[in-house]
Amino acid sequence: MKIAIYPGSFDPITNGHADIVKRAACVFDKVIVAVSVNSQKTSLFSIEERIELAKTVFSDYENVQVDTFTGLLVDYAQKVGAKTIIKGLRAVSDFEYEFQMAHMNKKLYPEVETMFMMSNQRYSYLSSSIVKEVGKLGGDLTGLVPEQIIDVIYKRLRRKS
Ligand code: PNS
Repeated sequence: MKIAIYPGSFDPITNGHADIVKRAACVFDKVIVAVSVNSQKTSLFSIEERIELAKTVFSDYENVQVDTFTGLLVDYAQKVGAKTIIKGLRAVSDFEYEFQMAHMNKKLYPEVETMFMMSNQRYSYLSSSIVKEVGKLGGDLTGLVPEQIIDVIYKRLRRKS
């Protein structure tokens, strides 16, 4: 079985993330959306909440599973039997950081391959951070985040501001 992991902080999951997962689900037998902590970011939603949001978005996708991990991504990959890490690339600016991580992950676990998928052009400007910024300032998030979770995001942003 070909298992791929799509790791990220997903705070919250955007239409850009969802698009990558749905396309990857057509290529792999199983895609694990692995929600984790990025120590360089402060989060709007707890890990548990982010998992719930992702589960809501992918509930109709039989070969998409949502999980979480702590520690090294490569250790998690070994634990779940995944040999592929999927990353989305929006623009050249993403490349440098992803390039470094891909090489480090390969060094730590030589059997793992990082596969980059180009973000859908429609979502190439999207990030969780920009979504939070727009929502916080009262902008419309329609088309930026999955419809099923838009109200939860508005509510949380309103509570925080
Ligand atoms: O969505 P993000 O915030 O860009 O996701 C970053 C994430 C969680 C994928 C990255 O920080 C990660 O892989 N963390 C796990 C810890 C780890 O393995 N670090 C070494 C990577 S080279």
